[in-house]
Amino acid sequence: MKVAIACDHAGFELKDYLKDKLNGRNVEVIDYGTNGPESVDYPDFGHKVCNDVENGTVDFGILICGTANGMAMTANKRAHIRCGLCWSPEIAALTKQHNNANVIAIPARFVSNEEGWKITDAYMQASFEGGRHQNRIDKIPCG
Ligand code: RB5
Repeated sequence: MKVAIACDHAGFELKDYLKDKLNGRNVEVIDYGTNGPESVDYPDFGHKVCNDVENGTVDFGILICGTANGMAMTANKRAHIRCGLCWSPEIAALTKQHNNANVIAIPARFVSNEEGWKITDAYMQASFEGGRHQNRIDKIPCG
């Protein structure tokens, strides 16, 4: 399995924590930064992960910022991204099961590193349920 990950300055510690955990599961991680506390603009990093997800070069993407809203808004502007804002393991599982999310956004200022890993793990363990949920996600695109 291969995953792309990125964050802004609010999320680099959680990003590095998740990277270690994923490597421990033999998941290959493409890290697009940022790598320190210097203030950056989250779309500059979020779009890099979304490019990989849309190109099919990774299995899914992880985006981290303070609230996860900026990253989720960025990702969900993309034609082929469904990004779930995940602040609990239950929400993370459901965004895979019901929304077939291909990117998760995690709010680093509102979850601990351990919670961030539980969220990521719950998403990874879950499977899309299809059926009525497929009908619904087919209606999401506009224009
Ligand atoms: C950065 O201070 C903060 O605005 C950002 O991490 C994120 O929460 C934006 O949505």
